[in-house]
Amino acid sequence: MNLKDYIDIIEDFPTEGISFKDITKLAANNEAFDYTIEELKKELEKEEIEYIIGPEARGFLFGSAVAYAMGVGFIPVRKEGKLPGEVISYTYKKEYGEDRLEIKKNAFKEGAKVAIVDDLLATGGTVKAATDLLKSMGADVRALAFVIELTELGGRELNKDVDIISLVKYPY
Ligand code: PRP
Ligand code: MG
Repeated sequence: MNLKDYIDIIEDFPTEGISFKDITKLAANNEAFDYTIEELKKELEKEEIEYIIGPEARGFLFGSAVAYAMGVGFIPVRKEGKLPGEVISYTYKKEYGEDRLEIKKNAFKEGAKVAIVDDLLATGGTVKAATDLLKSMGADVRALAFVIELTELGGRELNKDVDIISLVKYPY
């Protein structure tokens, strides 16, 4: 299956110069979504993952499905102000704009083996922030898995200490 058939490219969204990769059609298509989750699962099963971490919002969509398929827990990393109780925060720059991630304190035990799943690797800032957060909590971050990788934005270089999995690449 060629997943690119299910990814729409929207130019100049959300701001000028950004070539947005829209996964709406992929998620709505049962076969394409199933294929995506199974491919991510196949890659991540090589590690002894205990938790899948999904960054809000599109990381929830793929991350929770991968966690369910693998039979492991899912832990959300959310945008600012969404999680109750004690949280750990991290501010980071994105391909467009700036954002802040938060995760619940004590979300897992020290040494837990985790993988981060998100829809897209662009500059890598989001997943780097999530990795830094998780490592500061004692997590063993085994892999970073994406549906899409934008190969010319430096995300892989920024995250070179961790194994990176991606299913489709743009421009190639
Ligand atoms: C998008 C995408 C990734 C991130 C990738 O999320 O879903 O999480 O940007 O960019 P980066 O590698 O440059 O950090 P975004 O925060 O824009 O929105 P979302 O809430 O729709 O996931
Ligand atoms: Mg996102």
